[in-house]
Amino acid sequence: MSSHPNQRCMVTGVGGYLPKTIIHNDQLSSEFHLNTDDAWIRTRTGITQRHRASENETTSDMGIAAARSALHDAHMDGADLDLIIVATSTPDQAFPSTATIVLDGLGSKHAVAFDMNAACSGFLFALIMAESYLMQSNKNHALVIGSESMTRLLNWQDRSTAILFGDGAGAVILSRTASSDRGIIGHCLFSDGKNGKALHDLYVTTPSADHPMGVIVMDGQAVFREAVSQLISSTHTLLAEKSIDLADVDWIIPHQANKRILDRMCTDMNIDHRKMLYTGDMHANTSAASIPLTWWKARQNNTIKPGQLILLQAFGAGFTWGSCLVRS
Ligand code: COA
Repeated sequence: MSSHPNQRCMVTGVGGYLPKTIIHNDQLSSEFHLNTDDAWIRTRTGITQRHRASENETTSDMGIAAARSALHDAHMDGADLDLIIVATSTPDQAFPSTATIVLDGLGSKHAVAFDMNAACSGFLFALIMAESYLMQSNKNHALVIGSESMTRLLNWQDRSTAILFGDGAGAVILSRTASSDRGIIGHCLFSDGKNGKALHDLYVTTPSADHPMGVIVMDGQAVFREAVSQLISSTHTLLAEKSIDLADVDWIIPHQANKRILDRMCTDMNIDHRKMLYTGDMHANTSAASIPLTWWKARQNNTIKPGQLILLQAFGAGFTWGSCLVRS
């Protein structure tokens, strides 16, 4: 193994996939018989709709579609990949891993592939693990996917959780580059188990005959408070470590959970709301897929220019959270 002190890892392609079926807020009351309405959901969460995978559509199917779109963006194909990580809490099954199914689908004969679960922080954790692998080896290209079938974890009778989540996948290609000023320039990741299942804040129940994957249970207000506090603290920690001023960050791509969490963070940190990229209104909380899905949309709109500084922010069950700075 060798490290490369004058090199960095750059995101060279971004892709995404959202299933065809869209469920609008109004359909949750009219078709799913939830005691809720569009105005409540929009006001409290920012969400207007979510996508739902079809009955036969798996997490690996969505991951492959997002991966193909990222590979196309990077002008690469599956055979170029050395590593595939799928961040997911909703794998196709316990094993084989979703990542090896993706590997097979892409024809990536030489890649190493595995899944990672850090809940909604999974994509950010996987990105940093991929960076570490590339920097400590002679390998060049990693595919990092966040893919989730979150609607399979929903109790459709629970209006406090069923409104929040959706299905989809996002992916990036991470490539080792000789450039020392562009790419991933720093990160901080954290985990704390004491506030997970023990305090009933956010967890998935034990599988049952009715719900083979279990269902999401959440204390929304506790999660809201923790998310705001940890997103702010990890951002301050990273910026201080890298001696970078928040004003020098051009764009923030946060985990797309609840727009009010992001608004609160912007207000508390005095961040210009226009820097905060938000697409959660269109796909709800897709857990590990949410950061790359928002990145994908920014890529399609040509929002982020070369050389600009991006701050990624994640928060999820566990709890897990963290931040990462990327020079585009
Ligand atoms: N439609 C209508 N009313 C609803 C509702 C819904 N979908 N869900 C809850 N309510 C009701 C509650 O029953 C409660 O009624 P009551 O006052 O008669 O008891 C009222 O609305 C207020 O509930 P509350 O839980 O205080 O609302 P909230 O403003 O905290 O919003 C969440 C609830 C879940 C939207 C919010 O707490 C949240 O988004 N938390 C973070 C969740 C998250 O992001 N999780 C993933 C992290 S990775």
